[in-house]
Amino acid sequence: MSTTDSPQPRPRRFAASGPLTGRIRVPGDKSISHRSLMLGALAVGETRVAGLLEGEDVLATAAAMRAMGAQIERRGDGEWRIHGVGVGGLMQPAGALDMGNSGTSTRLLMGLLASHPLTATFIGDASLSKRPMGRVTEPLSRMGADFTGAPGGRLPLTLRGLSPAVPIEYRLPVASAQVKSAVLLAGLNTPGITTVIEPVPTRDHSERMLRGFGAHLEVERDADGARVIRLTGEAELRAQDIVVPGDPSSAAFFAVAALLVPGSDLTIENVGLNPTRAALFDVLRAMGGNIEEIDRRDVGGEPVADLHVRHSVLTGIEVDPAVVPSMVDEFPVLFVAASLAQGRTVTRGLEELRVKESDRIAVMRAALDLAGARVTETEDGLIIDGTGGDPLHGGSNRPVPTHLDHRIAMSMAVAGLASANGVEVDDTRPIATSFPTFESLIDQAVTAS
Ligand code: S3P
Repeated sequence: MSTTDSPQPRPRRFAASGPLTGRIRVPGDKSISHRSLMLGALAVGETRVAGLLEGEDVLATAAAMRAMGAQIERRGDGEWRIHGVGVGGLMQPAGALDMGNSGTSTRLLMGLLASHPLTATFIGDASLSKRPMGRVTEPLSRMGADFTGAPGGRLPLTLRGLSPAVPIEYRLPVASAQVKSAVLLAGLNTPGITTVIEPVPTRDHSERMLRGFGAHLEVERDADGARVIRLTGEAELRAQDIVVPGDPSSAAFFAVAALLVPGSDLTIENVGLNPTRAALFDVLRAMGGNIEEIDRRDVGGEPVADLHVRHSVLTGIEVDPAVVPSMVDEFPVLFVAASLAQGRTVTRGLEELRVKESDRIAVMRAALDLAGARVTETEDGLIIDGTGGDPLHGGSNRPVPTHLDHRIAMSMAVAGLASANGVEVDDTRPIATSFPTFESLIDQAVTAS
């Protein structure tokens, strides 16, 4: 992965900026891009993908699928062609699968491979090697896969798949789309019906796309309101044409920057607004943010709109913990928005943030402290007293430590734009995992004014 290939950290100071104006387009959705490559690699025929995110995480998935026999070809900007091997047809990879920084690649691929008769070793960078994998190895072991790894179920980890695997009924103990998807993907090559029960809904891209590729998948609610997802195994997947919408998690940084920097008037085109992903925009509106959806439409089975965002004075809010799964990756940048709001913002129920690419509660608390925000850390969230719209005044010249976490780096870049004296980020390399054009789009939106 190029993040680790480039040996030196790449610091950058994000200075106070003028307004963000004009029109920008963020790259394709990361979750949908991973799933397009994985399902395309299992389908029979040629899958064509437009708008694929060409970030390092997705490229790690592409490399892994190639190493297991799929033909994957880049035809142009975001234009990819995949010739799949058919469900059950993945081949033994010759070497270890390097997942770089990508938790999604790792957990979803463990699921895919669990029901194939092959052995694969997963390795990753320092951040990924600290993240818990027990949440997927536990259900996948019940299906018959065997795992040997570092203590605590961490990478490096070797999987021995089983074919035929055993279908299970699995109730998710954590609200995680990655765990849900791992079990469903394992179910694809498993005889019988694999069932996942999801008490708290999480992003549903896997379900939508599995259906799109022709798998038999049913969703219903049980008596307690939990989603019960049933996938019929030994599926035959048919190649698809996929158009990947813009990533709402990437649009989030620009939406917050435009809300915070006075005079901003920015349109972000083609943003995916799947309701299991888009809660940040609702929370920002509830804080007083002026975010308008223009031309709501359907792209590749996902709702999409252009977002017109204008500078707004925000007011602090108590964020309902029920919305956490539908904006789980957006809290770092919400914390930045809250730091400039009027009054207090309280967030709770964020324990999952502690096991992302970094401990996003502790790391954002430390980062915002350095940037001059007033932040208190609790066990499961942050309490932030905002400036009322004044720019942040950091008392320290020390660079903000980002701990190999792209979303910390981008959130603190936004804090820099909304600060009096700028914010220095210690390493911008991880941004390339999910949003390689982030810095050029910042420069474009800021200088357009
Ligand atoms: C993802 C699910 C989320 C999210 C991650 C991508 C996915 O993780 O944080 O960036 O594509 O399924 P969890 O489902 O583990 O919360």
